[in-house]
Amino acid sequence: MGFEYANRLKMLPPYLFAEIEEKVERKRKKGVDIIDFGIGDPDLPTPRPIVEFIQRELENPENHRYPSSAGEAETRKAIADWYRKRFGVKLDPQGEVAVLIGSKEGLANICRAFVNPGEKVLAPDPAYPVYAQGAALLTDAVPLRFPLLAEKGFLPDIESLDTEARMLYLNYPNNPTGAVVDKRFLLTASRWCQETDTIFCYDNAYSEMTFDDYVAPSALEVAQGDGTIEFHSLSKTFNMTGYRVGFAVGDSDLIAGLKKVKSQIDSGTPKFLQSSVTMALGAYRGAERPQMVKDNIAVYQERRDVLVKGLRRLGFKLDLPKATFYLWMKVDEPSLRFAERMLEAGIVVTPGIGFGKYGEGYVRMATTQSVQRIEQALERMAKVA
Ligand SMILES: Cc1ncc(COP(=O)(O)O)c(C=O)c1O
Repeated sequence: MGFEYANRLKMLPPYLFAEIEEKVERKRKKGVDIIDFGIGDPDLPTPRPIVEFIQRELENPENHRYPSSAGEAETRKAIADWYRKRFGVKLDPQGEVAVLIGSKEGLANICRAFVNPGEKVLAPDPAYPVYAQGAALLTDAVPLRFPLLAEKGFLPDIESLDTEARMLYLNYPNNPTGAVVDKRFLLTASRWCQETDTIFCYDNAYSEMTFDDYVAPSALEVAQGDGTIEFHSLSKTFNMTGYRVGFAVGDSDLIAGLKKVKSQIDSGTPKFLQSSVTMALGAYRGAERPQMVKDNIAVYQERRDVLVKGLRRLGFKLDLPKATFYLWMKVDEPSLRFAERMLEAGIVVTPGIGFGKYGEGYVRMATTQSVQRIEQALERMAKVA
């Protein structure tokens, strides 16, 4: 018989990659060797000290029980301590911190807490799809996409945004473009949100995955008054995408609304994982990254250098990103077609169109392959590019 989806689910755009994913699957089944630069999921394992810490925590029966949905007190304190060390921002662990089951759910749930059906939500284009879809569309709100253009360094023109929107999402270091911002830009965005009474949701999931001498700021370092909430994650910093641990910090009213939604829907991140937040963030010495993070970054930086150099040699145009493990590369044909052509050579890249219409003409490559595999991929690309 089959049941019809609710209208809000029907509003979601078609999944563009279904066809290409099927082709990848078919090739894999046939035993074709695939080099996958597609998903933003670290191939490196979680650092040993964290794995061993969680194993020990799991042995404690106290950690087998329901956690606090808003976050254990100790975890929230560790997050506030980290913010002070890392960004020089003082937070009240009680009212200004929430623990999340990965930052993705928080980015979506904040919309449920503060946006009414029919209200407008500003989301970048290209972008991580959650802002416009999981957040806005599934709240029956109206996503307004604004362009991130190469000639503007993939930064939005803040002054041109719709002043009637309820919420603005921004994400830097940026997925998919790898673009970064300075505090001055964040100040402009924050001032604009204050003046227009717009809630500022800042996705800082890649703040620790930065290269060379770039240090990513927090929006809370410059936030003008209330109305800012920032999202973080252990996923990329500590290769922990599969664990589902993140957090949100900022304006106490926004945090309270987010916690209220969550208390009705989920029961929080397991306690043995919440304590890993305390352990992992506690390893920072002042603002300095712990060795396990430095080691990770060194690996991604080397891969970035090898891949960018190789792609440029093949004639592609792309920047050397200062952050994230993404390369955003211009192609001179429709991005889906380019991706399909690469797949024929056994290489998976993500077509830019999947991140929004302004992503067309680009593909994203995640440096989640070893240098050896990157070199192999470059050889294959040389034959088909
Ligand atoms: C920009 C951005 N924000 C948030 C997330 C979600 O991360 P998680 O839910 O694992 O914390 C991702 C994941 O790829 C991302 O790219």
